[in-house]
Amino acid sequence: MSTPRPQATPSDPNAPRQPRRAPSAASRYLFVFLLGLVVGIVALVMLMRTFEGRRTWQDKYPTAAMQLMSAHAAQLRQKLDANRCGAIDALPHLEALRLLGNDLDPAFPGLAENTRFAQHTAGFRATLDRARTSPPMDCAGLKATLDDIGKDCKACHTDFRG
Ligand code: HEC
Repeated sequence: MSTPRPQATPSDPNAPRQPRRAPSAASRYLFVFLLGLVVGIVALVMLMRTFEGRRTWQDKYPTAAMQLMSAHAAQLRQKLDANRCGAIDALPHLEALRLLGNDLDPAFPGLAENTRFAQHTAGFRATLDRARTSPPMDCAGLKATLDDIGKDCKACHTDFRG
């Protein structure tokens, strides 16, 4: 009696190879599209980094000053929401905003000669001087101070923020 030969299975190395099907046109297009996408993204990131690296501190000064002012105004608002309205809570941020008021003219050298701009920067500093000399003692006071500051931000933005 002879043992039957095992049937050839796909994993059998002796089995005849399935002929490879040529990739369809659609999958070739998809590959080229994806390759182009990746190369494009890499090139874009490199370009953006080059532009960012070329920006000087003068270019960044206006945005930096405004972002810091906005950070301190937001923290004052957080204090108000958290019902922490004592002078000790508010003063550090009022001091910072007052100092940033000195940065407005050098940050916008093109506008420093403009009398309306000068009125806005002076008004902003005056509001903060008042707030520092008589700091808010309760939440009603802090809210009034924040409203005053917000009015100054808005007044200048209405005139000079395109
Ligand atoms: C004296 C004028 C003036 C005052 C006061 C002022 N800003 Fe601005 N702010 C500007 C100008 C001008 C721009 C536009 C800057 C630009 O696009 O280069 C601007 C832009 C901004 C921006 C956008 C910055 C960015 O990322 O491009 C923020 C945020 C901002 N101001 C917040 C504030 C806050 C908060 C206050 C008040 C606490 C304030 N500003 C007070 C003139 C002012």
